[in-house]
Amino acid sequence: MFKQIDLQRLVKEKLADYVFVVVSNRQPYIHTYVGDKIECSVPASGLTTALDPVMQACGGIWVAHGNGNADREVVDSKNRVSVPPESGSYKLKRVWLSEEEVDRYYLGFSNEAMWPLCHIVFQRPKFDDEDWYTYKNVNRRFADAVLDEIGNRKAFVFIQDYHLTLVSRLIKAKNPRAITAQFWHIPWPNREAFRVCPWQNEILYGLLGNDLLGFHIAYHRHNFLDTVDRALECRIDNEKFSVTHGNHTTYVRPFPISVDFESITERSQATEVEREMAAIKNKYGITDEIIGIGLDRIDYTKGIPERLMAIDQLLTKYPKYKFSKRVVFFQLGEPSRLKIKKYEDLNVEIERLIADINGRHETDGWRPIIYIKEHKSPVTLLAFNRLAHFCLVSSLHDGMNLVAKEFISSRLDGDGVLILSRFTGASRELEDALMINPFALEELAETIQAAIEMPEEQRRKRMDRLREKVREYNVYRWAADIITAMVDIK
Ligand code: G6P
Repeated sequence: MFKQIDLQRLVKEKLADYVFVVVSNRQPYIHTYVGDKIECSVPASGLTTALDPVMQACGGIWVAHGNGNADREVVDSKNRVSVPPESGSYKLKRVWLSEEEVDRYYLGFSNEAMWPLCHIVFQRPKFDDEDWYTYKNVNRRFADAVLDEIGNRKAFVFIQDYHLTLVSRLIKAKNPRAITAQFWHIPWPNREAFRVCPWQNEILYGLLGNDLLGFHIAYHRHNFLDTVDRALECRIDNEKFSVTHGNHTTYVRPFPISVDFESITERSQATEVEREMAAIKNKYGITDEIIGIGLDRIDYTKGIPERLMAIDQLLTKYPKYKFSKRVVFFQLGEPSRLKIKKYEDLNVEIERLIADINGRHETDGWRPIIYIKEHKSPVTLLAFNRLAHFCLVSSLHDGMNLVAKEFISSRLDGDGVLILSRFTGASRELEDALMINPFALEELAETIQAAIEMPEEQRRKRMDRLREKVREYNVYRWAADIITAMVDIK
């Protein structure tokens, strides 16, 4: 297994004379006022969950949007604060954005245009000229923040995701000694879907400013290369998987992202997690019920209504799960992007569905679905992972999905069943999960039944193999592969 210390060694050896910078929209730590006290917490984001342990190993600077109401109170004169609060292993540099910039760059262009454009869930993207204009300006602000740190020194800048497609070229225009890699955390759709974007060429040109471009799976890389091939005048090398545009070459590779397996396994054994498990059971009156969980940001790509409807079907078809062998499904939902109408509507839809399903099935004090709609600490999430008989990941489309890998990592007991959508990147690796098509409700209901009834021996065999996969290809391996690819390219 590749460990944190191996990554540290690699960075020391290969990147010794480079400044290491990560850039993303979402910050890994947020400072907020609770009463008149400042608290530091971690947001719900696959991206930050994966990259924080990498930064803790590598050190360096992480540039991100400061969106907490106490963020400004804790930074120095260069807008930096050391994080995590316990160890201060690296610096978080905050970029400040106005409310209008957030509305147009983050909610507007990133999440109402790019997000639905790249996730094939039949949600129409919204293209607005003002949003695009602001997106371009904000990308410049992020690039300036990076340049403010690196000056004209040699730097390795690791850019994240669809919010920042133009940053690489803006950095290189001022500091040609910077090398950049960008990782795309969401799917890349086929060229037919992507070409409706009015600014497709600017976005592709921006991304091709990078030396290395990473996707989770080979299929997304294929889609990207195909899109570029159609849209731009360039040379594609299908053996090296590179694109040469003008006189610059970008290498395009799959790197399936992962989690810090060992640390999650260890943290999930802590006494505070065990205490939390007991508290949850006590609070919700759980004794010998079969527990299912769904842990998500409330997003229309996650297939939350679909899974609730499948539970409804399950209870209708197999009434024993209401009477003799009761099932309780905990849906934990972190509210997200609420200013966007589609997200607001989804929240209403989920609440209505749950009220309706509970209303039709509940009997003497038992309710099938318990909805917890708030931000939960990592300890609580681990407690739910450990309590679950099955974890249900029913994304309609998902770049990777780290909830699945976190569930596996937390199960040192070797038990628990993962039900996983075929439309997640994770399904390519986690073959021992029970695969579902979340659009096929009957199949989904039957799969939940199969998970509940699976004999212990089979559950353990599957979980053993799943754990082996995530242990082997953990997030340090992911980061090391990207760094090694960068160094090889150079
Ligand atoms: C996805 C994206 C990340 C994003 C996360 C949470 O995983 O790839 O870039 O941080 O969703 O979304 P949010 O909009 O809250 O940052």
